[in-house]
Amino acid sequence: MSITPVTGVLGAEIRDVRLADLAGSELETFRAALCEHEVVVVRDQFISPAHQSTFSRRLGPSGETPFVVTMPEHPDIIKVVKEADEGAAFNFGGAWHSDFSFQPEPPSFTILAAVDVPPWGGDTVFTSMTAALSALDAATRERLSSLTAVHTARDAYSRKMQPLHSGMRGMTIVCDDSANDEFRHPMVCRHPETGKNVLFFNRAYVRDIEGMTHDEAQALISFLHHHSTDARFTYRHRWLPGDVVIWDNRSTQHLAVNDYGGFRRELHRTTIAGSRPVAA
Ligand code: SIN
Repeated sequence: MSITPVTGVLGAEIRDVRLADLAGSELETFRAALCEHEVVVVRDQFISPAHQSTFSRRLGPSGETPFVVTMPEHPDIIKVVKEADEGAAFNFGGAWHSDFSFQPEPPSFTILAAVDVPPWGGDTVFTSMTAALSALDAATRERLSSLTAVHTARDAYSRKMQPLHSGMRGMTIVCDDSANDEFRHPMVCRHPETGKNVLFFNRAYVRDIEGMTHDEAQALISFLHHHSTDARFTYRHRWLPGDVVIWDNRSTQHLAVNDYGGFRRELHRTTIAGSRPVAA
């Protein structure tokens, strides 16, 4: 396989692989490249749901998928879909986030496979939380290392958010009170596979910081959001038919751009179970 970086910060395109057949030392090389580059793009796969599940299981057991109803025949796959006539309505994944970081053991990887992509628009943007952390000065990194972030899905999936999700025709999202649960994770974590320090933060689910007043926490959350999503840390993926993009949720955030009104977009998503984040 050949591995070519797509920016100077994160992302690589991996060529000469068939994901459906990946195994043995080739799978190990692929996984190491995924952890190192944080996002990998594999073109021309046209992978079926069954093959996506098989490949996903080779990266690890399926992560739990709260709130979002999965495909009946493939309970590990979420169909991420917006119909052409849904216009500029709310889109799934349209705010910067790391998948399900509000879980006690958030997912390690996400696999997203293109099924029906618009001729333009609907890109997915990724940012490197390794690069975002290392760009901070030593005193700020030190201060962040002593902090614990409070992750919760309450502003995404609690009952008050149901009308927003119910506006999407192609996906079924069921909000419930478990969204109000809170899980605390260190703000700076050690990546379990690369050993690199990462800023484990995203504004969608980090809604408080332990030991801070509301105002102090909101000011820091705002600063970290704007710093970590700065264009210099990002890779913007323009989808082509057959693409599969895999990312490491432990070291990235992502955002689905909602700019393709008039076109249908469908991708299939699987997540891989992760482990409890560990402080750096
Ligand atoms: C997601 O946030 O998992 C969806 C990303 C996308 O649709 O591009």
